[in-house]
Amino acid sequence: MRNQTQVYDAYIAGRQSAALAAAVRLGLFDALAPGALPLEELARRLEVAPRPLGHLVRALVAMDLLARGPGGIELGAEAAAELVTGAPGSLCGLIDLEVENFLTPRLVLEALRSDAPSVYGGDDPWAAHQRDPERARAFTRAMHSISLRPGEALAESVDFSRGGLLLDLGGGSGALSIALARRWPELRCTVVDLPEVCELAEEYVAGAGLEGRVETLPADFFADPLPPADAVLLSQILHDWTPERGEALLRRVRGLLRPEGRVLVHEKLVSDDGRGPLANALVDLDMLVWTEGQQYSAASLAALLERSGFEGVSSRRTTGYWSVVEARPAGAAGLPGAGD
Ligand SMILES: C[S@@+](CC[C@H](N)C(=O)[O-])C[C@H]1O[C@@H](n2cnc3c(N)ncnc32)[C@H](O)[C@@H]1O
Repeated sequence: MRNQTQVYDAYIAGRQSAALAAAVRLGLFDALAPGALPLEELARRLEVAPRPLGHLVRALVAMDLLARGPGGIELGAEAAAELVTGAPGSLCGLIDLEVENFLTPRLVLEALRSDAPSVYGGDDPWAAHQRDPERARAFTRAMHSISLRPGEALAESVDFSRGGLLLDLGGGSGALSIALARRWPELRCTVVDLPEVCELAEEYVAGAGLEGRVETLPADFFADPLPPADAVLLSQILHDWTPERGEALLRRVRGLLRPEGRVLVHEKLVSDDGRGPLANALVDLDMLVWTEGQQYSAASLAALLERSGFEGVSSRRTTGYWSVVEARPAGAAGLPGAGD
């Protein structure tokens, strides 16, 4: 007889996200960061009753994020590294966004039936962020939290020893530019994003002490004038748009690049054969409810880049689920469209 766990485990898996997000919002991992606490004392500090907290703790222990030690409930190693606010690899901002924007079956069904993003009741997310600064702040915090560590890995996998200007289109908090500027002292970066988000990026850049090396340029990257650059970074940008809009953006990028320049596309790729990896295939559902885009495979990105006037496309994994795809303008100098 089959043991019938595969479907059940998939069904029950969403409870893990729910437990994680609730615990982050409650401040449970932060409360345990200094050391283990008995359940009753943890409940007192979090201002909840011991009985319901016991349910959450049981789930998190089973998920190996908490452990039961001699001093009470304690953080597991992964939780200490990634679930404490302000820790260098903290994913708290990303996970906290789940409390208001959980990916529910209802949102997936709405997006399937309407063929449009459903997360903000069908509203365009970028327009919604411009109208609602709190949403922009929460989203940008989430992006910062998911991008800073992969940004460090990206910075290790590229060579900017010759410096120059990198345009970070849709750069969000500036997480990638911050990591690149820290690693490559000759490099200057400009974060191009919508006005509300640029204000937030300036806070992150100031927090990193990189004013002067990382600047912001409030602009619509599809339409507003942009300066010529030695490199253009598109981190989690092409996956927000249809391939047609992606091609239009890449054609602009090609026009901005100096002859020796290159475009860097930083994404969580799905495999060319459509079989996974699971984490990146699931992010494709996020793209469904948030955007009109999708996760690319290395081959589909290479085809998009070549259609858009690039050549010499190469792709490599940087860390975890992340890859960078690099290309240079086809035919280099003399292409039409520079700075258009
Ligand atoms: C998915 S986030 C990626 C942020 C960042 N690149 C990262 O990887 O952490 C997409 C970003 O694109 C920005 N964006 C969307 N439409 C834009 C436009 N037309 N012009 C400039 N930025 C835009 C959003 O505000 C947001 O910060």
